Amino acid sequence: MVHRNNFEKLMEPGYIGNVKTRNRIVKTGAGLLMWNEAEVRMNNEMLAYYESLARGGVGLLIVESPTIDYPKGARWPERYRIDQDKYIEGVSELVKIIHKHKCPTFMQMNHDGPWQVKLPFVSKPLFSGSPIAASAVSIQAENDLHNEVPKSLTIHEIEEIVEKFVNAAVRAKKAGFDGVDINAASSHLLHNFLSPFWNRRDDIYGGNYENRARFVTQIVNEIRRRNGKDFAVSVCINSLEIGAGAGVDNSECLRVEDARETARLLEKAGADSIHVRSHVLGYHVGAYLPDVLCYPEFPIPKRNIPKEYDTRHRGVAVNARLAAGIKKEVSIPVILIGKLDPEVGEKLLQQGKVDFIGMNRRLMADPDLPNKVAAGRIDDIVPCTACENCLGSRRCRINPFLGTPYNIIERAKKKKKVVVVGGGPGGMEAARVAALRGHDVTLYESSSKLGGLMQVAAFVKGIEQEDLPAIIRYYKHQLSKLGVEINLGQEIDASKIEEIKPDTVVVATGGIPQIPDIPGIDSPNVIKAFDFYGLAKFFLRFFSPGFLNLISRIYMPVSFKFLKHMGKRVVIIGGAIKGCELAEFLARRGKEVTIVDTAKEMGTGMVDVLMAYLFSWFKKKGVKMIGGVEEYVKITDKGLTIINNEGKKELIEADTVILELPLLPNDGLMKRLKGKVNEVYAVGDCDDPKLITDAIGAAFKTMLVV
Ligand SMILES: Cc1cc2nc3c(=O)[nH]c(=O)nc-3n(C[C@H](O)[C@H](O)[C@H](O)COP(=O)(O)O)c2cc1C
Ligand code: SF4
Repeated sequence: MVHRNNFEKLMEPGYIGNVKTRNRIVKTGAGLLMWNEAEVRMNNEMLAYYESLARGGVGLLIVESPTIDYPKGARWPERYRIDQDKYIEGVSELVKIIHKHKCPTFMQMNHDGPWQVKLPFVSKPLFSGSPIAASAVSIQAENDLHNEVPKSLTIHEIEEIVEKFVNAAVRAKKAGFDGVDINAASSHLLHNFLSPFWNRRDDIYGGNYENRARFVTQIVNEIRRRNGKDFAVSVCINSLEIGAGAGVDNSECLRVEDARETARLLEKAGADSIHVRSHVLGYHVGAYLPDVLCYPEFPIPKRNIPKEYDTRHRGVAVNARLAAGIKKEVSIPVILIGKLDPEVGEKLLQQGKVDFIGMNRRLMADPDLPNKVAAGRIDDIVPCTACENCLGSRRCRINPFLGTPYNIIERAKKKKKVVVVGGGPGGMEAARVAALRGHDVTLYESSSKLGGLMQVAAFVKGIEQEDLPAIIRYYKHQLSKLGVEINLGQEIDASKIEEIKPDTVVVATGGIPQIPDIPGIDSPNVIKAFDFYGLAKFFLRFFSPGFLNLISRIYMPVSFKFLKHMGKRVVIIGGAIKGCELAEFLARRGKEVTIVDTAKEMGTGMVDVLMAYLFSWFKKKGVKMIGGVEEYVKITDKGLTIINNEGKKELIEADTVILELPLLPNDGLMKRLKGKVNEVYAVGDCDDPKLITDAIGAAFKTMLVV
């Protein structure tokens, strides 16, 4: 266990080639897709985001990949470009802003290669036609990007792409970057050549280790020759490729020995560091976000997972053994990535397993994390709860600056008396930002705990995948540090607020339940979500959400009026995020679940990848989903009768019907306050019931102008 204030190794400067890093934390490259295709210069959103990272004290900042080969090298138009000289000036503005904070920076480089063009979530693919790869090999797996047969590259085409990588690195140097991080991992083009599964060539780019590595070693060699020894070259590789995720024998894929030999060859070619990941066929996102692979359950049987891939801690340091194995083979530093945090990072450094600790999401959530670690302010670190809302969305649930052109909260010109009503995510964020701006803030929460429905959500979801209680702990600590007066267990109405005479009121009282008019809705076998929340809240007064989630797998109280009818067969009315998560909760507890909704698509509000993995799991567990319901006809003791999407009457047999429809806005207090207080704002569910991300974002935005 690392002592809370002892992060000696993590804070020690290091070297990658001749580039000195400020400490051992490396921000790894992550595409936030904040660029617009028509732009040549960097936009303010990119500048603000990367500046916040540089200012936050990270040891080395790897900026996301630009397109180096347009259009074949990238599937997304929102990537900035460096495939022509005209982009250098814009990119140099970005480098300048990073260097202004004395932060070294590398540019990540990759080539998407075999990723298919026809991705369901890419509305406007950059080019039509086959993707390109080492060989014409594809797999059929619903959560992968290789379902389309690619075109095998000719030697001449490979040489052209080598040149494109090198030219991009030369431009990167001109723009001021201190080095590059070549992505030969994941399942892009360069990895595709390294892997014996994908690469079936019999020319100088296929066959033995050396031939398969030739593409990337040529790139490294040539960058080294053209950019000189002071320009660092790091290479990110997969230390292992697990085929079992897509029904491929692991022995056909890139094995531990392949990766170690590749690392040796890369060092020989002039690489200054090796950045280690691993890949799992069939699970595109889960492969680089190993915690996602565990949602809702690890998809590969234990016997098919190589022992070097450490799945004991739900993705945390999953590649540590693999990285340590590579470190033994080379004398250049090794960077590890994969759900690492300061504590785990310090431990791995102390054990000498790796030289640098890669972090991505934790720094997106809190760009100031390194400075806070250095100052021993661990409790001030904004927690990344691995919610994955950042995937493709240009936003972070807990860092509302991300995706905006700003990165500083400024003090208000005039100090105000601010009353916040409601202690959920929106209310807590409003109170935090208001206090940071120098206002005098008082928060009222009617229940005995802060967190609002996050407590209940944590109970339903469990805390293994997404640590919602960490958000509540963080806010509690911040609000107390900032001197916010917190009144728990206190309902406050309009007249009491009027007596207080605040300048500003923020209403964050949450939404109200939606009760549809269905005959039989008040039958004893119907459980309304708020009754369930109420029961959960009662127990949450005594137990933590994580403990309650665990214990409820063994015992669910049935003596309560609305749970005594909780039978084996359950129908959930409402297939958006909450309904789906409740279905998972119940299916894990042995219930036979059917979800119904009038919407055709289920899972509204869920992150795409989590939804896809959950729905695959639903199939395995027999959870049924019926979308496009035309009418809920009636509820009886036999179950729920509907008119289905074919216009036919259908009885869904069930012992219990649960109502889990999205909340409705709650403008009661807003209306009562109208004309009585100068400034009133509604944030979160009471205004527009959506997600935690939206509540925090709205509260943040609102308070920036108060
Ligand atoms: C939103 C998002 C975008 C990412 N984009 C890239 C990318 O463009 N290139 C890349 O090599 N890795 C990308 N990654 C992977 C990260 O660099 C990193 O390996 C991954 O997030 C695991 O680290 P973490 O657990 O510290 O977040 C991305 C990850 C996220 C969450
Ligand atoms: S959106 Fe969620 S997973 Fe992504 S960085 Fe923010 S808190 Fe972490």
